[in-house]
Amino acid sequence: MTGATGQLYGIRLLELLAAQDIETHLVLSDSAQITIRQETDYDTADITGLADVVHSNENIGASPASGSFETAGMVVAPCSMKTLSNVAHGDAGNLIVRAADVALKERRPLVLLPRETPLNRIHLENMLSVTDAGGIVMPPLPSFYNEPESIDEMVTDTASRALSYFDGIDVSAEEWAGLGPSSA
Ligand SMILES: Cc1cc2nc3c(=O)[nH]c(=O)nc-3n(C[C@H](O)[C@H](O)[C@H](O)COP(=O)(O)O)c2cc1C
Repeated sequence: MTGATGQLYGIRLLELLAAQDIETHLVLSDSAQITIRQETDYDTADITGLADVVHSNENIGASPASGSFETAGMVVAPCSMKTLSNVAHGDAGNLIVRAADVALKERRPLVLLPRETPLNRIHLENMLSVTDAGGIVMPPLPSFYNEPESIDEMVTDTASRALSYFDGIDVSAEEWAGLGPSSA
């Protein structure tokens, strides 16, 4: 999770993965932690408690920094323009970007949920570079045709879509029934 608005997306992903007993490794950037405080009622501890393993973003020697540590892939949710740029340029100075770099080189799914509006040419070029390198750029844009009744539903829908790129995860709506802040 990095420092863009939309921390709920990362939180919901952790909730959904925990519901299916899928092992998660969480890295929070410093800016993510500031944003969490600013826009959610969650404490950092509430969020780290949802993950199986928590790594410091400064710990460049942590397991996800190595290609030999087998993972199903990685989601950066939300993804700041800074982290997007770092990933696009292979500028792997922290664990989040290094792990994303590893996912690309190992040809594992890397799904970024970049959030900014409007987008300038630099943002767009960085998205193109990541796409060219095999990443999936999935701005968290809600759909309205399914007539969502709450923000919560929109967030779950987007998080489920992000997980649809990974094998072995059931993303059917029933699987997530009851998940969300009301049950957190
Ligand atoms: C409340 C808040 C909201 C922010 N929203 C965004 C955003 O939506 N998109 C973005 O790219 N940066 C946003 N930023 C700025 C990033 O946090 C900042 O560029 C930071 O350096 C990103 O670092 P990181 O990628 O290591 O988390 C926001 C910052 C704060 C404090």
